[in-house]
Amino acid sequence: MSSAAPSPSIGVFDSGLGGLTVLRELRRQLPEVPLLYVADTAHAPYGQRSPEFIQARSLALAEHLRASGAELIVVACNTATAHAIQTLRQHWPALPFVGTEPGIKPAVAASKSGRIGVLATPATIASARYQDLLARHAGNAQVISQACPGLVDLIETGDLGSAELQLLITELCAPMREAQVDTVLMGCTHYPLVQTQLQAALGPQVQLLNIETAVAQQAERLWTHGAPGASMRLQTTGDAASLQRFVQQVLGWGDLAVEAVAV
Ligand code: DGL
Repeated sequence: MSSAAPSPSIGVFDSGLGGLTVLRELRRQLPEVPLLYVADTAHAPYGQRSPEFIQARSLALAEHLRASGAELIVVACNTATAHAIQTLRQHWPALPFVGTEPGIKPAVAASKSGRIGVLATPATIASARYQDLLARHAGNAQVISQACPGLVDLIETGDLGSAELQLLITELCAPMREAQVDTVLMGCTHYPLVQTQLQAALGPQVQLLNIETAVAQQAERLWTHGAPGASMRLQTTGDAASLQRFVQQVLGWGDLAVEAVAV
């Protein structure tokens, strides 16, 4: 008998906790597909790293997911999508990849005033891919692009109620309030974890948009392996106990064991 190949799964990665917001949506939309998530906690955050570093980590994580049976990979990170999805697609031309990018087009369509804001990591805002998205989809809209250094670092601590985090969110949202935007895009998968604080800082008149639903829909469109069975595995290159605590407390996933992996 030949040794069994790992059953086909959707592999998902992010620098850390952020991609869990995408994973949660994948679980909702594809309940019968095995999901394997890797948080690259040992190397988080990516948002202040070089493009070369982000590409090298993305290649290593995708290689790891492939070896574990991933037949589709969701890059649940705007920063890695901006800097590495092209490299990944070149490396595995036959493997479907789903990226995560700020939805400029739907945000412009949703805005009544034509003034929108984008919150994202410094590396995403600086990327050629983001500038290209703006050039293609912003049209006549005024777009306030706000890089948010430090925000992912604070979210990664797992203390989503800290005064320091609240203060930073208030500071980062101030330019959006001044510009009187009516629509703000969360251009980083970590930010929906602090959606309540962002909404409070922006004011109730601002609609806050995320991208996870669209990403999961795209994964569903590209998935061709049927329903091999519901299962969800979580891995981290960092501390397994911290991740386990976080998913238990914040996402309510109490029964999931988290494995530490070296990637
Ligand atoms: N969650 C990420 C993103 O969507 C990465 C944030 C980071 O590691 O800086 O951009």
